[in-house]
Amino acid sequence: MSTMTETAPTALEKAALKAGPLGELTRRNEVFSFLKPQENPLIDTRHNMMLYVEGVSVSFDGFKAINDLNLYIKKGELRCIIGPNGAGKTTMMDIITGKTRPDAGQVWLGSNLNLLKMDEAEIANAGIGRKFQKPTVFEALSVWTNLELAMAGPRGVWQTFRARLNGEQRDDIEYVLELIGLKDQQTLLAGNLSHGQKQWLEIGMLLMQKPKLLLVDEPVAGMTHQEMDRTAELLRSLAGEHSVVVVEHDMDFVRSIASTVTVLHQGHVLAEGSMSDIQSNPKVREVYLGQ
Ligand SMILES: Nc1ncnc2c1ncn2[C@@H]1O[C@H](COP(=O)(O)OP(=O)(O)OP(=O)(O)O)[C@@H](O)[C@H]1O
Ligand SMILES: [Mg+2]
Repeated sequence: MSTMTETAPTALEKAALKAGPLGELTRRNEVFSFLKPQENPLIDTRHNMMLYVEGVSVSFDGFKAINDLNLYIKKGELRCIIGPNGAGKTTMMDIITGKTRPDAGQVWLGSNLNLLKMDEAEIANAGIGRKFQKPTVFEALSVWTNLELAMAGPRGVWQTFRARLNGEQRDDIEYVLELIGLKDQQTLLAGNLSHGQKQWLEIGMLLMQKPKLLLVDEPVAGMTHQEMDRTAELLRSLAGEHSVVVVEHDMDFVRSIASTVTVLHQGHVLAEGSMSDIQSNPKVREVYLGQ
């Protein structure tokens, strides 16, 4: 029977072993990224606030893409962000996730984590998950394996093929399968899913990381009406446990989510409120709805 200890150590493993028992304990994580514990420092949400974006500005070649942006997302809230093309919606997500650094302002996760002092990986580990528009699932692997690979914790690709899942980990996968409505498709190859199902699988993969804040950019582009309804239901069910920020152009979809809506215009918040407040706001009608 072959066991892990019988395998000849690789150069990296030798380097870790050379550091001695104590060194091994402290350095293993640096040497083997897949052994790195998923860091999820406690986010201080005692003020019921998950995200603070305050006075944020960023310019690209003198053009102010984000201009004194203020945005507050409550714990467990589902927020929709709308706005015309070029309003700065994606740039705002780039700033929150550390992809773009602002020229001015503050961005905090809870009241204790200064996101401007963290890099992209640290921000992701702290509990912010981002869903880009295009689904990026592993097409040649099953739905189940996609979720397994995305699992939070000291597992990685390497361990997935060596170690068996424990009961709790299986439960986590079952739970997410149920939530994203792909229980019956769990053995299918992800490549055989419909466009909508791939989007849900990717949301499921984000959920395996147990994020506190989910950022979702244009989730329903290219979906059928039925898939859109199902997506609205899914995002609503995620709120409460997670804070969810959804950027979307489709007004019927935004209306169906029925959450607080923030209108961005020229990198600044133009209006905020319920969908009916927004629709009757003259400033919004002027710049956004073109009336
Ligand atoms: N890296 C960059 N370099 C230069 N300009 C940029 C960069 N990123 C964004 N911009 C500009 O900033 C503005 C805001 O773009 P952004 O993509 O954030 O808009 P958006 O609200 O997401 O639009 P859409 O609804 O079309 O997705 C645009 O004018 C865009 O061209
Ligand atoms: Mg965009």
